[in-house]
Amino acid sequence: MGAVLIREFAVDDRAAVDALLAEAFSGPQPDGSPAASPPIEVVLNTALLDSVEFLPQLALVAEVDGAVAGYCITTRGWVGDEPALGLGPIGVDPAVQGRGIGSALVRETLRLAAEHGERVVALLGAPAYYGRFGFVPGTDLGIDAPEPAWGAYFQAVRLGDGAGPAGAFRYAAPFDEL
Ligand SMILES: CC(C)(COP(=O)(O)OP(=O)(O)OC[C@H]1O[C@@H](n2cnc3c(N)ncnc32)[C@H](O)[C@@H]1OP(=O)(O)O)[C@@H](O)C(=O)NCCC(=O)NCCS
Repeated sequence: MGAVLIREFAVDDRAAVDALLAEAFSGPQPDGSPAASPPIEVVLNTALLDSVEFLPQLALVAEVDGAVAGYCITTRGWVGDEPALGLGPIGVDPAVQGRGIGSALVRETLRLAAEHGERVVALLGAPAYYGRFGFVPGTDLGIDAPEPAWGAYFQAVRLGDGAGPAGAFRYAAPFDEL
């Protein structure tokens, strides 16, 4: 595998990103049911790119040998009435998973978010994966999931000096339309 280049998403990447997310999320859902066609992550990502909560500097593509091999979008969300960030969907081409591309995308997202003065990033995902980046269950930080049933899969990390808002987390509107 060649060098990994992380860069901002560009409009011309849309088709490649759709195809990548469709491939990455083609497996069964956590409950065992088959993925929709196209997977909901593809539909969600399209809506996020077209939403008012879209933050161009936090939609990232990982390129390997000139091809889109990974993607991660992070959009405006809220903790109570305070601005925060929601990370996802994130996906890596199955052909090159497990080689650090997802980690590079998450780490660059957190670096950029901190640089922009953001204080909280939240997501829904496997604790065994996101714990390595500093994410902890939202409840440990006083940040409540949109759905209590998400339990420890709803995770958050504070940036900067570690202070920040507490309360109920709300994602960008397209997440509510799923
Ligand atoms: C999850 C995903 C983005 C990670 O990207 P990646 O480039 O494969 O990840 P990295 O190479 O940076 O990290 C690999 C490590 O993550 C672990 N990992 C990957 N997915 C995981 C998961 N769902 N749960 C726990 N650990 C996971 C691997 O076991 C590996 O662990 P190791 O470092 O201890 O060997 C990628 O596997 C993917 O696109 N999966 C399908 C779509 C998906 O599930 N997206 C995330 C939804 S929250």
